Amino acid sequence: MNAKVVLLPGDGIGPEVTDQAEKLIRSMSDQYGLGIEINTGLIGGAALDETGEPLPEDTLAMCREADAVVLGAVGGPKWDDPHAKKRPEQGLLALRRELKLFANLRPVRLHPALAEISPLKTERIKNVDLMVVRELTGGSYFGDKEEGDDFASDSCTYTREEVERVVTMAADMARARYGRLTMIDKANVMATSRLWRAVSAEVMEKKYPDVAYETMLVDAAAMHIVANPSRFNVIVTENMFGDILTDEASVLVGSMGMLPSASLGEGKAGLYEPIHGSAPDIAGRGLANPFGMLGSVGMMFEYSLGMREAARQVELAIWNAVSAGQCTLDIGGNLRTDEAADAVINQLGDIHAKKVAFI
Ligand code: NAD
Ligand code: IPM
Ligand code: MN
Repeated sequence: MNAKVVLLPGDGIGPEVTDQAEKLIRSMSDQYGLGIEINTGLIGGAALDETGEPLPEDTLAMCREADAVVLGAVGGPKWDDPHAKKRPEQGLLALRRELKLFANLRPVRLHPALAEISPLKTERIKNVDLMVVRELTGGSYFGDKEEGDDFASDSCTYTREEVERVVTMAADMARARYGRLTMIDKANVMATSRLWRAVSAEVMEKKYPDVAYETMLVDAAAMHIVANPSRFNVIVTENMFGDILTDEASVLVGSMGMLPSASLGEGKAGLYEPIHGSAPDIAGRGLANPFGMLGSVGMMFEYSLGMREAARQVELAIWNAVSAGQCTLDIGGNLRTDEAADAVINQLGDIHAKKVAFI
């Protein structure tokens, strides 16, 4: 197969969790005889320090050639000067834009062993199994910006085509899951949301009459996600609402460190990153939960390498590690980042051995 994977560790806990991703990819590559080629590039603050650019041309060129890109996190206090011309986060946004990654899939599933860690009552969260499809290359993140001492603006724009393609992807997912889709917007205030509403309704009526479809205002959705999260299955929403709602949803399943993501689009390479940031408060101490990152590697096997069974095995290995209490402090364990990742790799070995014995 000889797939090419690019690792972009970035900043803070980014390199700590990306090291674990590399171990997992190498172990899967050996196990399945895949001969995956791994290269590493600079992004974010680390790239700014070394090259003066948050997304150096070499990095982008490498990513364009790759089948998949695995990213840790970017940003941190060192680069937070509000007057700085270049910021680490611009590197990540430029990468998403350049690779045309318009859909960001963020699954949120509760492991029963983590129910008591959640601040919410167990009976409210026990069936949580969400897939949030966040639009990733439009909205206020990418509209024209003006920045001055007395005035600033971020314009929020969407086109019909941008809405159509991401809603179509989410509706396909809803059809393959439980046949339910919620589109979240702010149509009582935002013109872009009214476009989302009109275009989504059209797509759903014409192509997905079999999928139960509802719309919800984002403020109410923020409440329902904590009050009654299992009422949702697949959610589709614009860029910034999706960013905010998924950090909120991470609380349901125990920790920010648990949530993986896959960004897909028109181009060849998919981008795989945990939803968390560089966590400056715990960086450099071996405390970072690597499971969101390892789950992202699982998604890479499914969406970029076409290996669904391998992806399921990674998911199951993480699941088994959590069941066995082999995890980091944030979710009630006492393992360090690398030990928790090793536990997942060992679980994978067991799953593989059982499978081979069964065959
Ligand atoms: P954050 O996600 O880095 O951290 C929020 C909280 O969650 C912190 O208390 C942190 O310790 C905890 N946390 C995050 N990941 C964890 C993990 N794997 N294991 C255990 N605990 C974890 O958000 P923030 O503090 O608001 O942002 C810090 C920096 O990260 C900022 O510069 C921001 O721009 C950047 N950021 C980057 C990305 C990305 O690269 N994709 C995402 C979000 C934030
Ligand atoms: C995320 C992050 C990014 C975003 C930032 C770092 C640009 O919060 O990946 O969720 O807002 O998309
Ligand atoms: Mn975010």
